[in-house]
Amino acid sequence: MMIVGIDVGTTKTCVLVGKQDHAGRLTIVGASTSPARGIRRGIIVDIDEAVASITMALDRAERLSGEHIRSAYVSISGRHIGCLNSTGAVTISPLYRDITEADIRRTLEAARAIVLPAGHEVLHVIPRGYTLDGQDGIENPVSMAGFLLEVEAHIITGASTSINSLVRCMQGLNVGIDELIVGGLASSEAVLEEGESDLGVAVLDIGGGTTDISIFTKGSIAYTTALPLGGDLITNDIAIGLQLPFSVAEKLKITYGHSNPAMIDDHEMIDIGQFMPGRRDRISRKLLAEIIEARVEEICGMIGDAIQTVSYGDWLPAGVVVTGGTALLPGLLEMVEQELDLPARLGTPDRIHGLDSSLDRSFQLPAFSTAIGLLLWGARHSSLDSEEEEEQFEDDEPPYDNRSRISDWLRTLIVQKLKPAASTEEQVGILSAAYSAGSYTLALNRRSGSGTF
Ligand SMILES: Nc1ncnc2c1ncn2[C@@H]1O[C@H](COP(=O)(O)OP(=O)(O)OP(=O)(O)O)[C@@H](O)[C@H]1O
Ligand SMILES: [Mg+2]
Repeated sequence: MMIVGIDVGTTKTCVLVGKQDHAGRLTIVGASTSPARGIRRGIIVDIDEAVASITMALDRAERLSGEHIRSAYVSISGRHIGCLNSTGAVTISPLYRDITEADIRRTLEAARAIVLPAGHEVLHVIPRGYTLDGQDGIENPVSMAGFLLEVEAHIITGASTSINSLVRCMQGLNVGIDELIVGGLASSEAVLEEGESDLGVAVLDIGGGTTDISIFTKGSIAYTTALPLGGDLITNDIAIGLQLPFSVAEKLKITYGHSNPAMIDDHEMIDIGQFMPGRRDRISRKLLAEIIEARVEEICGMIGDAIQTVSYGDWLPAGVVVTGGTALLPGLLEMVEQELDLPARLGTPDRIHGLDSSLDRSFQLPAFSTAIGLLLWGARHSSLDSEEEEEQFEDDEPPYDNRSRISDWLRTLIVQKLKPAASTEEQVGILSAAYSAGSYTLALNRRSGSGTF
C-alpha cells in the first residue's frame, strides 16, 4: 500500500512516498524537498506561490517513486492551532451488552460536540482514556460489558481560514487529503521512544517559522500548541546585526552558529568571503554566538511560559525531546534544559523500524521528523481503518431498533452538553429541552470529570 506524506513547512516542503508491505514494514520509495514560498510562520499566505513551490517537490517525488500521487497525509501548523480536553459519554443499550467500535465512535462524537470560537474547526479528536461505569483508566473498552461509557478526549482545533487555504492549495496540486495532521503530532510520532509518553514528555519541533509544542501524559497527547517562532528569527537577527543578506546569514548560522558564547574562543574570526565572493572582512564568532544566544533565550523563555501556563512543568519526568531543523543548533539543548529545568534530548526520526535503506537514512534528520511522522501516522491509521471497516460491517447489525437509536442520540446529547464547563443557564436550558423531549436526566448522576487545564 502506498502512503504519502506532505510536510508543508515554512522553509521547505517535504514530500515522502512510502510503501507498506503486508508485514507493516514501511520503506520510502520516493522523497523530495523544495524551498517553501507563500508560507509565513506555518500559514499559507499566498496559495499560488505555495502551489508552485510544492509542485516542484511533488513532481520530483513522483518521478523518483514512479508513482502518481493521488492523495496524501498533509501537515498543518501555525499559531491558530488550539486544543482542549473534553469528555463525552453514551449509555449502552440494551443494558450491559458488549461495547462495540460503534459505541466508541458515538462516545468520541459526543466528546467532539463542543462549542468552538467562530471560525475554528476540529482537526483531531484523540481518545485519552475510557471510563466504564465509573471504572477509569480503560484503554480499549471493546468487548467489555457496561452501561455508561465515557471518554476523555484531546481535541485539536484550527482556524477555518488557514485550513481552507491548505485545502485549496492541495486542490490546486490535484492531491486529495487523506488527513490533515497537526505538525507537532506527526513529529512526536517519529521521535518519541517507547515509554516516554507514559512517563510524561514534551516534544518541541523548532522549525524555521514555528515551534510546535506537544505534551504527552499517561501515554497520550494532553496539550498541543504552535508558537510563531523559529530559526528564521535567529537568521534575521544575524542579518540585521551583521548587515548581511538573509541567505548569507543563514549559511553563517548553519556553519558557525552556537547559542553559548562562553564556548567560543574570544579570538576566533570568520572570513565572510567564503559565503560572499568579493568580501574581505571578518567577523568575530563570539559576536555571532551572542546574537544567536539572545534570540534562543527568548524562544526558550516563551516555550517555558507556554508549558508553565498549562502547569505541565512538574508532570514531565521524561523531560523534553527537541526536534525540527533548529534543534541542530549547537548549545540549544543545554539552553532548553536550563530554561525549562528539565532534561532534554535531540529527537531524530531514526528510532523507527522499517526505515533502513540509504534513501531513508538521508531523511533521518530532525528537520524531517514531521514528514516521517506523517508516513508513520498514515501507516498506523490506514491499518486501523481497514480493521474498523471490517468491524463496522459487523456493527451494522444493530442490537436495538430505530427508536432506541434515537434515545441513544438524545442521551448522548444530554450527557455531553452537561459537561462541567456548561454554565448553569446552559444546563437548565438543555435539561428543560430534554424534559420536553420526554427524555431522562441521566447526566445529573454523572461523575464530574473535567478536561480543562
Ligand atoms: N545545523 C543547523 N544549525 C542551526 N539551524 C539549523 C540547522 N539546520 C537547519 N537549521 C534551521 O532550521 C530551520 C528549518 O527547520 P525545519 O526544516 O524543521 O523548518 P520547517 O519545517 O520548514 O518550518 P516550520 O516547521 O517552522 O514551519 C531553519 O531556520 C534553519 O536555519
Ligand atoms: Mg516543520
